[in-house]
Amino acid sequence: MCGVVGYTGRNQAVDWLLDGLATLEYRGYDSAGVQVVSSSGNLHGVKCAGRVATLRERAAVANLNGTCGIGHTRWATHGAPTDRNAHPHLDGTGRIAVVHNGIIENYQELRRELMAAGHEFLSETDTEVIPHLIQEAWNGPAKGDLARAVRYACDRLEGAWALAVVCSEVPGQMVVTRNGSPLVVTSTEDGAYAASDVMPLASVATQVTQLEDNDIATLSPDGSIQIVDRNGAPVANPATLTIDWDASAARLGGYSDFMAKEISEQPEAIERLLKDRLGEHGIELDELSLTKAELAAVDRIVIIACGTSYHVGLIAKAAIERWARIPVAVEFASEFNYDENYLVTDHTMCVVITQSGETADTLTAARRMRGMGCTVFAITNVLGSTAARESDGTLYIQAGPEVAVASTKAYTAQIVASFLLALRLGLANGTLAREEVERHFADLERIPDLMREVLARRWQDKQAARLFQGKHSSLFLGRNVNSTTAYEGALKLKEISYLHAEAYPAGEMKHGPIALIEGGFPVVAIVPADHVHDKTVSNIEECLARGAVVIGVATDGDEKVAKLCSQVLWVPQCPDELVVPVVAILHLQMLARYVSRDRGYDVDKPRNLAKSVTVE
Ligand code: F6R
Repeated sequence: MCGVVGYTGRNQAVDWLLDGLATLEYRGYDSAGVQVVSSSGNLHGVKCAGRVATLRERAAVANLNGTCGIGHTRWATHGAPTDRNAHPHLDGTGRIAVVHNGIIENYQELRRELMAAGHEFLSETDTEVIPHLIQEAWNGPAKGDLARAVRYACDRLEGAWALAVVCSEVPGQMVVTRNGSPLVVTSTEDGAYAASDVMPLASVATQVTQLEDNDIATLSPDGSIQIVDRNGAPVANPATLTIDWDASAARLGGYSDFMAKEISEQPEAIERLLKDRLGEHGIELDELSLTKAELAAVDRIVIIACGTSYHVGLIAKAAIERWARIPVAVEFASEFNYDENYLVTDHTMCVVITQSGETADTLTAARRMRGMGCTVFAITNVLGSTAARESDGTLYIQAGPEVAVASTKAYTAQIVASFLLALRLGLANGTLAREEVERHFADLERIPDLMREVLARRWQDKQAARLFQGKHSSLFLGRNVNSTTAYEGALKLKEISYLHAEAYPAGEMKHGPIALIEGGFPVVAIVPADHVHDKTVSNIEECLARGAVVIGVATDGDEKVAKLCSQVLWVPQCPDELVVPVVAILHLQMLARYVSRDRGYDVDKPRNLAKSVTVE
C-alpha cells in the first residue's frame, strides 16, 4: 500500500523525491520520509508521522544535499504511524538505507536471529530487518557489492516487497527490486528513476520499464539501468510501458480536490471507453483473446473483486445474465480465497475487476482461478498493472489516473466496460441479435450526456447534505440493480464522511434494519421509474411512518416521490434500467463529498484508507 520512489542523477534528489511522493500519497499517507546520499558519501534524511506536506517542511529546514536518494509514503501495517516507524530504515552502521512496500511475513524470526547476532532495532516495523540483512551480506558474502547484498537479503525474506536501497559506500548507486509489489524504473538524460507506479514518472518520461518479480536493477547517475534476474543473468528485453496520459491528468487543474475533478470527468471517461467499440463484427473487444466459439462455450462466469469494484460486479451480473443469459456468481476476493469448496465448470470464465490492478486479495483470487483452469479476464484502469499482466485478456477502462481514495470515475467506467463484455458474450452465444446489440450500445452512448445533466444538478446534493448535519447514522435503500447503487452510495458516505451508513435492498428493510429508524433519521431511497418503483415507494412510506427524513433519487417528473421526500436528487429519464445505476450514482458521489466537506474532512485522503490495497 505504501509508495516508494528513488532517483540518482545530476540534479539534487530531494525535490523530485518529494514531488514523486506527493503523487503517490494516495497509496498511504500516515508518515513519510526521504534519505539522500551526498557525493562525499554521507547519508542525510528526514522522516515523520503525517503527510508529505509535513515532510516537505522538515526537508526544507534539513537542507538535504545529494543527487541520489530514496523516499517513502506509508500506510502502517507493522507498528503505529510514528516518526520512528516511518521509512527509510537504516542498518546498524548507518550506511545502508531502505524503503519498502509490502509485508515481510517472517520478520519476527529474522529479527530474533539478527538480535542474537548483536543487531539493534529502532522501530516496530517488519521492514527494519532488511537493511540489517543487507549489512550482514555487505560485510560478508557480497563483499561490498550492493546488488549482491540485496540479493542475499531477499533470499531470506518471505512475503511481498518492492525495495529501493542506497548505501553511503557507493554514492550515486541505487538498487531496486521487487517480489509481489509493483515497481517501475526509467532512464532519462537527467538520471534514473524508480517508483511504485507510473504516476511520479509521468513528469519525467513517457516510457517506463517494469521489473519482474526477483529482478534486481542497479541505477546509476548517468541514467543507465542494469537489470539482472533471480539467477544474476542480465534481462535482455524487460517489459516496457508507454504512459498514454499527460502528467497534468494527475494534477488538480483548478478543482479544489481530486474527488470533485474525478466525479466531473465521468462523461468524458465513458465517451473514451465507448469510442470505436461498435464495429463490423458487433462489439469490438479484441482484448478478450478468446475466439467467438470459445466465448460461445462459456457456461458460467465468476466475477471477483473488492469494495467498489465488487459493486461493479453486482451490476455486471445483472447485465450478463440479461444480455448473455450466462449464470454469474460475484465473489468478494477475500472470501473466495478461503473457500475450499469452490466449484467451476470446464467452461467457467473468471472476470476480475480492479481499478488499481494491484489489490492483493483480487490477485490471489485470479491466480487461484487460473490454477483451476479458468480463463481470467481483467477489467482495470492501470496500464501494466499486475492484474493486467497476469490475465489472459485485459480491458482497460481508460479513465485516466484516479487519485482520490474514494473511487468514482473508475466505478462507472468499470460498469460500462462490463456492459461491453455482456453484449459481446450475448452476441457470441446467439442470445442477442446484431440489431439488439446496436440498440443497447446506442443506449450506452447516451450515458455521458445523462451524466452531464446530473452534474449540473449538484446543488440538489449540496442541499441534501444539510439533512445529515448532527446525524450519526443513515440508511440507503434500493431495489434490483439499484440495491447496488444503495451499497455504493453508502460506501462513499462511510469512507469519506465517517458517518455510519447501512445499505439494504429496500424489501429487506422490514426484516431488521427498520429498527434503526427514529424521528429525523436520514434515509436515502433510490427509486427511479422502473419495474419496482411502486414497491420502493411503499418502503419510503414505511420509513416516513417511523419519522425518517427521506432523500429520494428519482426520475424527472415523479410527483409521487416529490411529495414524500424532504429532498429529491433528480435523474433524467434513462433509456434502459441498466443505465440508471451508472447515472444516479453521480448524485450519491456528490452527496458524500458535500457531507464530508461540511464536516471539515479531507475528501481525497480519508482516515485509515489507502487506494491500492496491496496487503491481504
Ligand atoms: C472505495 C474504493 C475501494 C476499492 C477496493 C478495490 O471507494 O475505492 O473499495 O474499490 O479497495 O480496489 P481495486 O478496484 O483497485 O481492486
